[in-house]
Amino acid sequence: MGRHMSSDEHVDVDDRIAALAQRAKQVLEDNDRGSYTVPTAKLYPFQWNWDSAFVALGWAQFDRERAWLEVETLLSAQWPSGMVPHIVFWAEQDTYFPGPDVWRADNGPHPSSGISQPPVLASVITQLALGDSGESETDRAKADAAFDSLNRWHQWWHTARDPKDLGVMAISHPWESGRDNLPDWDIPAAAIDASGVGHYERRDTKLVDASMRPHKHDYDRYLALVKFGADQGWDDAAIAAGNEFWVVDPGVTAILLRAERDLLRLGQWLGRDVDELASVSGRIERMEGGYDRMWNAAAGSYTSIDLRSGEYATAGTSASFLAAYAGITERTSELVDELASWSEHCPFLVPSFDPRDSRFEPNRYWRGPVWAMVNYMISTGLADVGEGEWADRIRVSTRDLVLESGFPESFSPTTAESVGGLHFAWTAAIWLAWLS
Ligand code: DGY
Repeated sequence: MGRHMSSDEHVDVDDRIAALAQRAKQVLEDNDRGSYTVPTAKLYPFQWNWDSAFVALGWAQFDRERAWLEVETLLSAQWPSGMVPHIVFWAEQDTYFPGPDVWRADNGPHPSSGISQPPVLASVITQLALGDSGESETDRAKADAAFDSLNRWHQWWHTARDPKDLGVMAISHPWESGRDNLPDWDIPAAAIDASGVGHYERRDTKLVDASMRPHKHDYDRYLALVKFGADQGWDDAAIAAGNEFWVVDPGVTAILLRAERDLLRLGQWLGRDVDELASVSGRIERMEGGYDRMWNAAAGSYTSIDLRSGEYATAGTSASFLAAYAGITERTSELVDELASWSEHCPFLVPSFDPRDSRFEPNRYWRGPVWAMVNYMISTGLADVGEGEWADRIRVSTRDLVLESGFPESFSPTTAESVGGLHFAWTAAIWLAWLS
């Protein structure tokens, strides 16, 4: 696609790439709070779960000790149930709502939210331990220390979020998917009674243009779900039984399946006990058996499923393309065809939602924008299954977006403009770990 660059243009791009590595490092340093990294100051002033995991990959490029500290800090907030929370409130900050007083989650060792987030951490730790510059004695000791926590967290997903043994993971809140305002959640969330939420003041729309953020009706439902969970004392069984929002997420499912495979590899390398490894293998088999439930032929995608109504979402999201990353290959050719069709509708890949659908909004959070860390996972998976051309195309697209707009939270797939917060840690980390 496109025209070839002249040699002068190449030099220019090379210079910019080198300069961007410096700037990316600066973004991580500016967002560093000592033992954890905020996604970006003000808009997200605490430690976020999957943000921190990706950010560790960035730190590892120039400060391995700091990379390990990032993940150790996150795991130190693990609940006795095994859950690793989506936000850890390490410091008091008034630029974010809802804070710990709204979550009322005192189930863990530190104030936190009461839900989790996509469990990419085991894959990141495996990468730190077994990736290019890993395999030192320190890496081995640190990975060994993290193994049990990761194993308990993964088991928590199966117990708490798949109690009916479907082999696919439900989420209890749109925030648990990490993909907050996806059109997928509109219908399942519409059933939520938000009449008891009362008056509250959002902080996000004071920091970022409201047109890039979820609507008020979305926030009302987010808060109603937080209230329900808090009223149950964040009891997993009560949430599985009574939460109004209970939806299988192909994003969490793909990321967990990949993380389970990585955990198995890590455990084998660490020489872990066979029984322990057998439980990881058992969970992998369950998920391999369940994955195809999410296949939605009409949408040409793996889609979410509202478990309360049995309804499937009617259009694909970028998470559908994570199947290869999860090691699921049966439908690769259908998915590549779908990706090709999406690519005809927007110049930059991969939009978070089907660009052919009327609900697609290129600048609104998860209803269209491209996210660098999602691209990293999709591209990694496609490369693994021999779809090198598409893997490269996604990588080049991500690189072009950063060359155009630097390190925002996400990017418009139609114009490459910044969307959401700026000076964003995971975009910088992905640049350092994957693109520079
Ligand atoms: C937010 O507040 O927008 C976050 O995505 C919640 O995790």
